[in-house]
Amino acid sequence: MQNVIPRRKKTVREIDVRGRRVLVRADFNVPLDEEGAIADDTRIRASLPTINYLCEREARVILCSHLGRPKGRVEGRLRLALVANRLSELLGRPVVALRDCIGPEVESAVAAMSDGDIVLLENLRFHPEERADDPSFSEKLADLAEVYVNDAFGASHRSHASVVGVPQHLPAVAGLLLEREVSAFTRILQDPERPFAAVIGGAKVSDKLEVLDNVISRVDLLLIGGGMAATFLASRGCRTGASHVEIDRLNDVRRVEENAARRGVRLILPRDLVVTERLEAGAPTRVVPATEVPDGRVIADIGPEAADEFTRELGGARTVVWNGPMGVFEVPEFAEGTRRVAAALANLRGTTVIGGGSTTDAVQRFGLADEMTHVSTGGGAALAMLAGKPLPGFEALDDAGTP
Ligand code: 3PG
Repeated sequence: MQNVIPRRKKTVREIDVRGRRVLVRADFNVPLDEEGAIADDTRIRASLPTINYLCEREARVILCSHLGRPKGRVEGRLRLALVANRLSELLGRPVVALRDCIGPEVESAVAAMSDGDIVLLENLRFHPEERADDPSFSEKLADLAEVYVNDAFGASHRSHASVVGVPQHLPAVAGLLLEREVSAFTRILQDPERPFAAVIGGAKVSDKLEVLDNVISRVDLLLIGGGMAATFLASRGCRTGASHVEIDRLNDVRRVEENAARRGVRLILPRDLVVTERLEAGAPTRVVPATEVPDGRVIADIGPEAADEFTRELGGARTVVWNGPMGVFEVPEFAEGTRRVAAALANLRGTTVIGGGSTTDAVQRFGLADEMTHVSTGGGAALAMLAGKPLPGFEALDDAGTP
């Protein structure tokens, strides 16, 4: 079992940035729609506190990020100019988008900056050296600045040049978003107010095993939903119809169940399910007992009795962490279980942490994000935190208290 307590790291509040060139690694990896426009600007908004903080102190702000997975080549639709435009609107000040992230033109643009100016370097992943954590690429990025700030929580599980390489060359501190994210997860995993419940869902149990293994040693109650419930139900000998059962994970889910029993953790599977022949809008649905998914049907959502039970159980918790939807919530017919869990958390008088990715999308879609204590901007990074794994991008920063 992993059990990593992140050390306290120096933050942007603890260094002098006035008039200095500050390289900020942000996570502007935003979803794009079919026309190539920004479909959701949450991650851009989440970066505003750090950028505003630096501008108010008249730093020269050099932003950098990846967007998508361009495989080390320039891809026109993944240029960061569209992020610069949105960011500029949100900040109410100019953000100059550069056409590369290293090289002579970038160097002269940075040299010409005045205090309080903001530039955004081009997509780091247009260079294969970014993902390869190439030392000379890190050095070139570092040469642009005097201070490095990591505010890219969503990318901090990646050992890429801009995440772990650059901080080897500069004073390196956490931005306000990174600090907030890491402390939200650390607090609930290390010192939760009890009872502490985890709700874990999503399509595949294999994506969540490390999280399950870690949270089982910390929670009082574990609620399981989503397509991954099929593997738990199969391991208990239930009929799972055409649901995707991960046969090679049956022993793992048995281990999770045994650990839960040994530790006195109440592990609750849905008692009923919404099933369908096809996971698409308009497909006919049926509610069935969880032990009896008929042949040819797949799990689409938890059922109404399960949603009642989950709501009741969550009502007694003082801390809840949630990762993974209860069903295919993007399809309205299969969204109810996820919506009920989101509503239960929104009504909770206690701490609620939403663990990123599609769970964050769900609470936003239901208009309940503002009711939660913390809604993570990370997908893989949130999973890493919940699994108790160190984040390389956080570990690479200067420890608090170092001069
Ligand atoms: C994310 O979207 O989770 C982060 O931006 C990391 O992106 P990646 O999975 O492409 O590294």
